[in-house]
Amino acid sequence: SCYRETYRPQFHYSPEKNWMNDPNGLVYFEGEYHLFYQHTPHDTRPDFGNMHWGHAVSKDLVHWTELPPAIPPGEDGAIFSGSAVVDKNNTSGFFDEEGSGLVAIYTNEGNKAQPGKPQVQSIAYSKDKGRTWTKYEGNPVLFPTDTLDFRDPKVIWHDESSMWIMVLAVRDHVEFYTSPNLKEWSFASDFGSDIPHIHRGIFECPDVIRIQVDDDPNTTKWILMLSIGDRNGVNPDDPEPPAGGSGMMYFIGNFDGKSFTPDETLESIDTIKWVDYGSDFYAAVTWNGISNEDGRKIWIGWMNNWRYATTLPSKEWRGKTSIPRELQLRTYPEGLRLIQTPINELSQLRKPILSLQDLTIKPGMNVLSDISAAKAEIIAEFEIGTAVEFGFKVRKSANQETIIGYNISNEELFVDRTKSSATDFHSDFTAKHKAPIKPEHGRVQLSIYVDWSSVEVFGNHGKTIISDMIFPDLESKGLELYAIGGELRLVSLQINDLVSIWG
Ligand code: FRU
Repeated sequence: SCYRETYRPQFHYSPEKNWMNDPNGLVYFEGEYHLFYQHTPHDTRPDFGNMHWGHAVSKDLVHWTELPPAIPPGEDGAIFSGSAVVDKNNTSGFFDEEGSGLVAIYTNEGNKAQPGKPQVQSIAYSKDKGRTWTKYEGNPVLFPTDTLDFRDPKVIWHDESSMWIMVLAVRDHVEFYTSPNLKEWSFASDFGSDIPHIHRGIFECPDVIRIQVDDDPNTTKWILMLSIGDRNGVNPDDPEPPAGGSGMMYFIGNFDGKSFTPDETLESIDTIKWVDYGSDFYAAVTWNGISNEDGRKIWIGWMNNWRYATTLPSKEWRGKTSIPRELQLRTYPEGLRLIQTPINELSQLRKPILSLQDLTIKPGMNVLSDISAAKAEIIAEFEIGTAVEFGFKVRKSANQETIIGYNISNEELFVDRTKSSATDFHSDFTAKHKAPIKPEHGRVQLSIYVDWSSVEVFGNHGKTIISDMIFPDLESKGLELYAIGGELRLVSLQINDLVSIWG
């Protein structure tokens, strides 16, 4: 494939063919970043009874090489989401004298021949840099006690206790388990069962990380990140994520090797910290195995929403990832907040198109009327003036546009994709997504990533994010910078093309 089909992401990963959902087994090992993912290799729709771990590798998190599916289903059922670790000290005993290797920890879902079979956790190991995997003969390594929703193990190494920690999604809560060897797991604690009515469905794909506060190596906190699925809703009347359907929340707190204690108790939906206010960022998890010298926390999400995921208008494949994002924890007047910024490696794709500084933007003018782009990086800073709304229109033509705007009186960033797309493939897709964000020192900063079928908007240096898919015609390439109801100052603007990663 030349990766130039209609809607094909140009700087996001998507499989050459067929279905993908969650990223799985993210691990850095011997110079390669691994991206495994939920994949049905023979169908553009998800076949849950036949789910594989698809596989791609990258040296820079930007350019990816797709490899054959890594872990296929078998007698044990389909291979659902999970994680991978570098077993440095050979705690598993899988690697003998040969040294260290990779261990994958995943969920087996009962297949069609065995309906109602509970989900169990299994492991597999690889001695050849993730190319081939051997399922452990002692599988499964963890059984549920009383629920069918028991899945998506994320495993990390916990230094202080010299133990492996697993965080697992268990319907309306998560559970922590510990293990010395990845084969025997002991229950340690649960989190979330005592929080009433915070979501309408089930937790999926949890992750827990230790992270520096304000980049200070001596002060660290833990963040628990949770995806919320609205299938099999346990409380259909309860609130849902801001853009509806699949969404992600996070908690900041401490983890002692056994249990997670949040800094703040969650009293209502209004105090939930949302990872993304767009419709299309789900099941994100962080890379294991990034060295201490690098020290970055990086994650990637499935850029999609189960509400309409199976109906997307792309033909050859279905599903893609977000751009990889670096995570930080920063102190604000209102408290600590998770910051997400595109990884620095993306800057290698830049080809400058336009740069402007210190300009007054007035209603009726469009300083971008001479340029066009079907994909772009737009980095802008504005000083609030008398305008009541301002922003960019991207992927614009006579009858299509995606608006990325800021409403000053509501202090709201938004992406309006109601007129974005060629096809109206699902009623939940046509929407405007809003995120609360206040000007800082009278300014609003935006970093926007426009690809052939998506926009990701990072507000105020990664504090507030909106990620949305769009499906415009390739010919819809117009750009506009607009102001409504008054003027404002454009402090700076840089627009770059991002060269396709597919060469
Ligand atoms: C989340 C999810 C996971 C599950 C996988 C199945 O999107 O539902 O909970 O492991 O997808 O493909």
